[in-house]
Amino acid sequence: MLRLFLDSADIDEIRTVYSLITLDGVTTNPSILAESRNKYGSPVLALKVISRFVSDHGGTLHVQPVGTSYQAILEDAHFLLDELGGNTWIKIPVTEDGLAAISTLSREGVHVTAASVFTFSQGMLAYKAGAECVSVYCNRAQDNGIDYTSVISSIKNAFPEKMLLAASFKNTAQAEIASYSGADSLTLKAKVLFSDLKTDLMKKTVDSFKMSWLDAYKKDRIKPE
Ligand code: G3P
Repeated sequence: MLRLFLDSADIDEIRTVYSLITLDGVTTNPSILAESRNKYGSPVLALKVISRFVSDHGGTLHVQPVGTSYQAILEDAHFLLDELGGNTWIKIPVTEDGLAAISTLSREGVHVTAASVFTFSQGMLAYKAGAECVSVYCNRAQDNGIDYTSVISSIKNAFPEKMLLAASFKNTAQAEIASYSGADSLTLKAKVLFSDLKTDLMKKTVDSFKMSWLDAYKKDRIKPE
């Protein structure tokens, strides 16, 4: 069964979505964490609140260090794990330094999500370095002329037992294609996740039913006045 994550660092938004659907966890990145800075002041406080909520709901939280050098990634990762607990998944972009950090942290037993994956070889290297999850960034790939469907399917074909988390979507069609290509997990922002519920087609369809009733019974409810 497909695993679904919410890409958010806004606890109010997270609570709202969890009240509507079952989620497998939350993913964040420095950009979306920075966006919610006004709510908490401290990013670590925000992450602590989110971590506790997600853990209480049986999910996992994926958090990305800000540092980009090997040493800085490790320092940020260890700080995050100390503050948020060992169940936190650390998201690391698959750069040269990132791969080395993935290797070190994986050997320490840390759950690692290899992030910003745009090619088969990045995914292959990340898994071989010990990452438990590889995250292909679909819309960013597409914006740069990369066919993310073939990246997903080739990685999944070579590593069928591993978690592949497709991320970075500007619409639900991209998410559908990512799933169809083999992604076993998706993470979407709330505005994309629920976008199909408020299309013009939905409004037209729902209104047409009401209009039929209005025509026949001159009211817009079945329930008697
Ligand atoms: O979790 C990764 C995701 O946040 C990247 O998405 O929309 O910034 O490309 P986006």
